[in-house]
Amino acid sequence: MAEQKATNVTWHDQAVTLEDRQKLNGHKGVVVWFTGLSGCGKSSVANAVDRLLHNKGVHTFLLDGDNIRLGLNRNLSFSPEDRTENIRRIGEVAKLFSSSATVVLTAFISPYQADRDQVRALLPDGGFVECYVNASLETCESRDPKGLYKKARAGEITGFTGIDAPYEAPTNSELELDSDAKGIEELATEVVAFLETKGFLTA
Ligand code: ADX
Repeated sequence: MAEQKATNVTWHDQAVTLEDRQKLNGHKGVVVWFTGLSGCGKSSVANAVDRLLHNKGVHTFLLDGDNIRLGLNRNLSFSPEDRTENIRRIGEVAKLFSSSATVVLTAFISPYQADRDQVRALLPDGGFVECYVNASLETCESRDPKGLYKKARAGEITGFTGIDAPYEAPTNSELELDSDAKGIEELATEVVAFLETKGFLTA
């Protein structure tokens, strides 16, 4: 937990409640937290889910790795401490969006289980859906969409996840997607079906 530095600050409840917002939107808020190696398909699946839900009239918002690192988190590196802070801030932003009855999709490597657990702890019970996009390192490295594995193997990038920095795979995620065997649309359909079954898509 990050240190509380500001003093003399108190929490204020708001006039418009979560229930009011759910009723207006016609569905609940939830955070679908995609995690996995670089190149595993997190971002592609999250984008496909975003499109499917948007087309159904669901209010969604996608928080995506590189984009956040170009803005809100531009002052963070890939050191273990900065990755933890990256995930903490994104968790807080995801919490804000989900408390506006929005379905939040996040796509970050988020390599440490403890960091993902911290985000889970921020959210109401059931409001955090950990979704492991499971593709083997071999698959990710063969895709290498940004050429970063090649650079990491050549020693041009150090501390690259899966090569010389750790990835702690979830052991009890709500969802595990087999990205070695299945395509993006099929995986996205699995996620939407999960959200439907769990009742997130109704108020
Ligand atoms: S996280 O570990 O802090 O969750 P995040 O998802 O924000 O990572 O960013 C990962 C993306 O940054 C990768 O997909 C890749 O494009 C890029 N990147 C650059 N350097 C590294 C690195 N050392 N390790 C992992 N990804 C990196």
